Amino acid sequence: MKIKVAAEAVSDRQIVGLFEGEKQKEIPEYFKGKLGQVEVVGQKIVVGLGKRGKFDLEAVRAASSAAIKKAREVKAKVVATLIHGEEVRGINPKDAAKAVVEGAVLGIYKFAGYAREKEDPDFQIEQLILLERDKKKLKSAEAGAALGRIIAEAENHARDLVNTPSNKLTPTDFAKLAERIAKVNHLKFTSLDPKAEGMEALWAVAKGSDEKPRLVVLEYEGDPRSKEKIALIGKGITFDSGGISLKPSKKMYEMKCDMAGAAAVLGVMSLLNDLKPKKNVMGVLPLTENMPSGHATKPGDVVGSLSGLTIEVINTDAEGRMILADALTYAKIKGATKLIDIATLTGGCIVALGDVVTGIIGNNQRLIGKLIDIGELCGQRLWQLPLYDEYKESLKSSVADIKNSSETGKAQPSTGAAFLSKFVGDTPWAHLDIAGTAFLDKSRGYLPEGASGVPVRTLIEWLNS
Ligand code: BES
Ligand code: ZN
Ligand code: ZN
Repeated sequence: MKIKVAAEAVSDRQIVGLFEGEKQKEIPEYFKGKLGQVEVVGQKIVVGLGKRGKFDLEAVRAASSAAIKKAREVKAKVVATLIHGEEVRGINPKDAAKAVVEGAVLGIYKFAGYAREKEDPDFQIEQLILLERDKKKLKSAEAGAALGRIIAEAENHARDLVNTPSNKLTPTDFAKLAERIAKVNHLKFTSLDPKAEGMEALWAVAKGSDEKPRLVVLEYEGDPRSKEKIALIGKGITFDSGGISLKPSKKMYEMKCDMAGAAAVLGVMSLLNDLKPKKNVMGVLPLTENMPSGHATKPGDVVGSLSGLTIEVINTDAEGRMILADALTYAKIKGATKLIDIATLTGGCIVALGDVVTGIIGNNQRLIGKLIDIGELCGQRLWQLPLYDEYKESLKSSVADIKNSSETGKAQPSTGAAFLSKFVGDTPWAHLDIAGTAFLDKSRGYLPEGASGVPVRTLIEWLNS
């Protein structure tokens, strides 16, 4: 879909917005303007913008997404749209245009899949034209649209990776893809063999699988004179069977999504050379499968780690924290001064928060607060969960420095974070548990069924702030 901003356009459909309770001639009485409500009236696609007093950028995205889906349904080739929300409640033309494009590009996403026979041959909208009649605002709207486009496309790319089945995206495939992305974007690329590097915790997860693990590192240097370095660390389990602590088979197929953290980090890294934030950023991707086999780690085994700490493996299904432990240690060794890890870490996070909000836990309130605020603006909500000492105590082992899981299974998100905190030390750190938000059973607004792409936009806006 081509996207442009213009003062006027010839199009076969025109998207217009209407606030709840407000009237426009030609628009039928029953159309109430509820956010995301759509109605085709002649050549117009009317979309509800919700209550004027509640209007924000997330409403722009929702409306834009609903309207573009309708345009696809009616097979419009060239679609023109008003820039919803411009000048409403202080929203500037750039941000409004950006949100319109984000909503459209994210909303129209569909995973291509592998079916040879398709019911409805995929129809594509050829062009989306944002109408900006005020010539003075054209440049800002253009900048916003261009930005919205690359960011939404990076999030869609992350979705594609998460939706890709594990036989089509092995750790080796993932590393090759990361290398390609690094090359195109002039990022430094390193791919390590975890076993040879002494990453014993990562290796403990990988050794049950026939697929070779990797630790991939991508580096962007936006502030060469500074020693500050942000590390984004993404859990990259390309399939989580649970290992010897095998998961129940029901819904196990969804565990192809267990690399959503790594996919999000790769999505963010792919944007840095375009956006050029003045920050040094390192993306660290521990990549492996978690499989049962005759050479898999067994419950009760004690393994080492890159940090030197020994770990008693209580549950081989608590594998995310094992690979993150070594990735966090690696980032610290390489000089990271701020750590953010993103992981589909615990089923307990889904129990607590469902699929509507990501859990966030860490040791630095400023960093956590900032991420929560930015997540809210992006429509990617974060909710803080606690990290009390009691959670750390529940991981005391009688045979090693730490256990990878408490036997009780209580407070999994906090216990998981407590495990990670042992490897983090005092470096400012935030842990994002995206187990619930990374993969959806049902589409919702501009989020499709399956991979959501969280939290690419939040992280990129944070880096840009
Ligand atoms: N990958 C899972 C968590 C998960 C579950 C993600 C459902 C997405 C959807 C993780 O590795 C896991 O299995 N965690 C265990 C932790 C437990 C052993 C402490 C879990 O959730 O049971
Ligand atoms: Zn697991
Ligand atoms: Zn997992």
